[in-house]
Amino acid sequence: MSDTDILLDIRALELRYGAAVAVRDISLSVKRGQLVAVIGNNGAGKSSMVRGATGLVRPSGGQVLFKGEDTTRLSADRKVARGLVMVPEGRLLFPDQSVEDNLILGAYAHGGLKSVRSKATLEKVLSLFPRLKERLPQQAGSMSGGEQQMLAIARGLMAEPELLIIDELSLGLAPKIVDQLMRVLADLNAAGLTILLVEQLASYALAIADHAYVIANGRVARHGPSADLARDPEVMEAFLGKKKKAAA
Ligand SMILES: Nc1ncnc2c1ncn2[C@@H]1O[C@H](COP(=O)(O)OP(=O)(O)OP(=O)(O)O)[C@@H](O)[C@H]1O
Ligand SMILES: [Mg+2]
Repeated sequence: MSDTDILLDIRALELRYGAAVAVRDISLSVKRGQLVAVIGNNGAGKSSMVRGATGLVRPSGGQVLFKGEDTTRLSADRKVARGLVMVPEGRLLFPDQSVEDNLILGAYAHGGLKSVRSKATLEKVLSLFPRLKERLPQQAGSMSGGEQQMLAIARGLMAEPELLIIDELSLGLAPKIVDQLMRVLADLNAAGLTILLVEQLASYALAIADHAYVIANGRVARHGPSADLARDPEVMEAFLGKKKKAAA
């Protein structure tokens, strides 16, 4: 693959909250068509990296290139319009608004539902999530956790992403639901969507990703093909807090 296949290129990113450094030095790239996982323990700096990459927090160092363009200082809105879309940690839906209104807000970057393009996108997104189609008038906050995460993903798709970043898909969900949603992501990726999946439940993320990065202390501790990382006992123990089974 040539460099033009790289959608997102994060170079030596550094991000601080006041004096506290959350991201020390992260370089990471996502090629068009890939599903890349970012894993790591609580507080490792995963969400901060995402906030830096998407423009929600201004990085204190490094660069963010999207489709070859330096977008380091662009606002989150401008990045969404270029195709860099995030499903945030904790979903951040509008709980009192209907499912339909939440979806319409996702189409904001493309002129809302007034545009023909957004209407067609809504039809397409609802065909992927029939559960949501049945619940268009329901208040978003009254749906189950899994349905709310589905809505958060669907709202992201309404912005017609070229890269969809999902921060903690599994948050607060039962393993069976996490499995189902992981399958949805794998299907979306198989249909051509490039995905960056930030996830604390490493084994789930590694199972569907091509390539993965392990983040620890605001740095990339390891990266490589997911299958290799999943087999590496040191990765599991040192960076993901999984204990080796005691010898019998
Ligand atoms: N708004 C903030 N103000 C100050 N410090 C923050 C802020 N957000 C995060 N931090 C700190 O930055 C560090 C990295 O946090 P971050 O949320 O990026 O980690 P994470 O890897 O996403 O963790 P988790 O798996 O729990 O979501 C932590 O030490 C955290 O306390
Ligand atoms: Mg986080």
